[in-house]
Amino acid sequence: MDVSSRRKFLIISLGAVGASLAGVAAYPLFRYLSPQPTGGEKGRVTIPRAQVGAGQAHFFQFRGHPAVLLERTPGVFAAFSAICTHLGCIIRWLPEKGEFLCPCHAGRFASDGKVLAGPPPRPLQVIPVAVAGDNLLVG
Ligand code: FES
Repeated sequence: MDVSSRRKFLIISLGAVGASLAGVAAYPLFRYLSPQPTGGEKGRVTIPRAQVGAGQAHFFQFRGHPAVLLERTPGVFAAFSAICTHLGCIIRWLPEKGEFLCPCHAGRFASDGKVLAGPPPRPLQVIPVAVAGDNLLVG
């Protein structure tokens, strides 16, 4: 192997190593910027009806964001984004009061998502729900 061939080999080898390192470094950024799994076709999530107890809230991920599902009255379900419309904290369900509380600034929302008190400027974002046998189709 002459000097020219060794030089070519070295350049190609260093290029391959550099490309590999660039790929390793870029992968976390790619994963961070990639859309979150949506949980189903067209972002629709299927939740077994039995997971939503009467008077209880069921929190889940919807299109990469926290959401909540509850049975407002027997057989009537509602789903909302669980992100407070004030500054984006995650709401909690207070079953004894039948309302949502935002722990950050004490914003309160009714079981239909409307603002009851506190600084939230808008109701919770509603997500459509359909009953399909023993399942609830959200989205
Ligand atoms: S972020 Fe919810 S009340 Fe402020």
